[in-house]
Amino acid sequence: MPNNTVDVTQMPLSIEWKNAELYLLDQTLLPHETVIEKQNTVEDVWQAIKQLKVRGAPAIGIAAAYGLTVAVKNDTGLEPNDFKALVKEKAAYLDSARSTAVNLSWAMRRMVSHMEGLTSGSSAELYDVLVKEAKKIHQEDRELCAGMGKMGAPLIKDGMGIMTHCNAGALATSILGTATAPMYVGHDNGIEFKVYSNETRPLLQGARLTSWELKKAGIDVTLLTDNMAAHMMATGHIDMVIVGTDRVAANGDVANKIGTLGVAILAKYYGIPFYVACPSSTVDMETATGDDIPIEERSGDEVTVIMGKRIAAQDTQTRCPAFDVTPNELVTGIITESEIIRAPLGQGLIKFFEGKKND
Ligand code: MRU
Repeated sequence: MPNNTVDVTQMPLSIEWKNAELYLLDQTLLPHETVIEKQNTVEDVWQAIKQLKVRGAPAIGIAAAYGLTVAVKNDTGLEPNDFKALVKEKAAYLDSARSTAVNLSWAMRRMVSHMEGLTSGSSAELYDVLVKEAKKIHQEDRELCAGMGKMGAPLIKDGMGIMTHCNAGALATSILGTATAPMYVGHDNGIEFKVYSNETRPLLQGARLTSWELKKAGIDVTLLTDNMAAHMMATGHIDMVIVGTDRVAANGDVANKIGTLGVAILAKYYGIPFYVACPSSTVDMETATGDDIPIEERSGDEVTVIMGKRIAAQDTQTRCPAFDVTPNELVTGIITESEIIRAPLGQGLIKFFEGKKND
C-alpha cells in the first residue's frame, strides 16, 4: 500500500554522530570500499569537505555544523568570550573549504548566530548548545528530505524514464536525498519507472554513487556517460529530469554540478520537464542571480587523472569548473519540502519564504 514512508534502514549514511564523535563515510572510495572515518580535528573535517569525502550541499552543511563542535571540543576551559571568538574563527575556516554550496555558509552562520544569542553560560554550556544545534540541523534535514519525497513523488508516473545528474541522493544529505527523494517514495508506492544516471565527469558521482545507491534500494537504474544524454532524450527514453542543486539564487537560477546546464538545455529542446529538488536551506535569497553565485574551480588533475590513472599528456592545459548555472527559464519547477514552486520562480520563491514566516 502507498504510504509515503521508505525503509531508510538500508540506506548508506554519509554522516553519523555517535558518542559525541563525528564519523564520515569516505565517498571518494565508493562503491568499492566502505570506509568510515572518525573526524578527530577540524582540519580532518575541512579536508573531508575539500576532497569530497563528504559532499552534496546538505551533507556539507551538516558535516560542517558537527565539525565546528569538533573544532572547539577541547577548548571549553577558555573564557566564554574567547571561546565564542574561537568558534567564529573556526566557522570561517570550515566555510572556506568549498564555495558554491550555500548550505555550508548557511550552517556556519546558523551555528554562530545561535551561540551569539546566548549572553550567559560557561564555555562548556556553549559547547553543549553547539552540539544540540548541529543535531537539530541534522534532524531537520531528514524531515526536509522526507518532505521533498512527498512533494515530488506524484510527478512520477508508471513507465517513466527519469534522468538525473551527479548525486543528489541519500549520500548527499542526511537520508533519502533531494532529487532521489521522490524516486525513493515513488518506488515505495509501487510506481514502476526507470532512472537514467549520468556518470558526471570529472569525479563520476553519477557512476560511483547514484547508480550504486539506487540499485541497492532496488530501483531500476541505468548508467549513461554524459554525452549519451541527448541521444537518450531524442529517442524518447526520458520523460522527466530531476536534479539537485548547490544554490538557488533569488531569481530562481540554479547552480548544480557541471554538466547540468547542458542537460537543462537539451530538456528544453525536447520538451522534457526539468525539475530541481532542494530544501529551503539551499535557496539563497541574498544572491540575486546565477551570475552572483561563486563557481568553485577545482584542480586540473581531476580532469587529467581518472581513478588514479593519467589520461592526458603531462602539462595538458585544463579548466575544472565544478558547477554551472541553469537559468530559471529552463527550470519547470523547484521541488521543496512543502511545495513545488513553478514559474515565475523569482516571485514563487518570495511567496514561499513569506509563507514560511507565517507558519
Ligand atoms: O561536488 P559535489 O559532489 O558536492 O556536487 C554535488 C551536487 O552537485 C549535487 O547535485 C548538489 O549538491 C545537491 S545534493 C542534494
